[in-house]
Amino acid sequence: MAIDIDTKIIGLIGYPIGHSMSPTIHNALYNRLDMNYIYMAFNISKDNLHRAVEGMHALSFIGFNVTVPYKERIIKSLDTLEKESEIIGAVNTVKIEDNKLIGYNTDGMGFMNGLARLNFSPSGKDIIVLGAGGSARAICVYLLKENPKNIYILNRTFDRGLALADELNKTFHCNIVRPIKMNVLDNLKPDILINTTSVGMYPHINDSPLEKYDFHPNTVVVDIIYNPHETRFLKEAREQGCRTQNGLAMLIGQALASIEIWTGQKISYEQCQNILRDDKIFIDLSI
Ligand code: ATR
Repeated sequence: MAIDIDTKIIGLIGYPIGHSMSPTIHNALYNRLDMNYIYMAFNISKDNLHRAVEGMHALSFIGFNVTVPYKERIIKSLDTLEKESEIIGAVNTVKIEDNKLIGYNTDGMGFMNGLARLNFSPSGKDIIVLGAGGSARAICVYLLKENPKNIYILNRTFDRGLALADELNKTFHCNIVRPIKMNVLDNLKPDILINTTSVGMYPHINDSPLEKYDFHPNTVVVDIIYNPHETRFLKEAREQGCRTQNGLAMLIGQALASIEIWTGQKISYEQCQNILRDDKIFIDLSI
């Protein structure tokens, strides 16, 4: 796709963003689908964050993604927030439209997209979430919209899990989010077990968030990590008979949700999968 006077720019801001796959994914899609957009990544220091946002606005960017460490801090530079991102308290996608900056969070949307691909509905289900950080929060907000039976939060720092559970119960007027400690884990038989922590991510590929855990073969096991393709956690789950999914489904799902917000264009997961496979961006995209 040639860059011309009509090319619309989409940004990615964060610090550091050296490892991000997003520019490669977005530009491959825009190129192959003849969409006249370009996706550019910018390392922005904390002191320049607001100036960078104003600059993107002034340069008629149609929007941008926000990554670590600015997903929360960006909010004060925006005009409005979409409901879920307000509850989550973090934004990873900004749309610039009619001189307004609108914040969204597509992480939870991307995760739900992945569950749909597994034909898994959270409704009435027992769910265990490992971790209580930003990713856990985004995922829990979207899970709670589907009326699960229970969401158990197991976090290294118990009090952080407790605080997240309290806040979610309050926001959703329910009492089904429960912080748990490691010693009760073996008494639970979850329908789905989700790792939202960074434990097991490259280069620490021999680590797992659960040591010596007996997975129940009927539990669906999801890891939001995609590097390595199969974490130790997922490998052990698969070897014990569980259906598993890695973080590529969420990564791609959130990118497609962002593209729809900016451009109005719906790209299917399959279409995206084929393009990334043809361009040899990911070797194995099976989920
Ligand atoms: P993100 O936005 O990716 O969720 P985060 O907000 O920094 O990142 O949250 C990281 C999560 O991974 C937290 O739940 C963290 O546990 P703590 O609340 O105890 O810090 C968890 N985590 C990170 N490293 C961990 C480790 N080595 N063992 C267990 N949990 C870990």
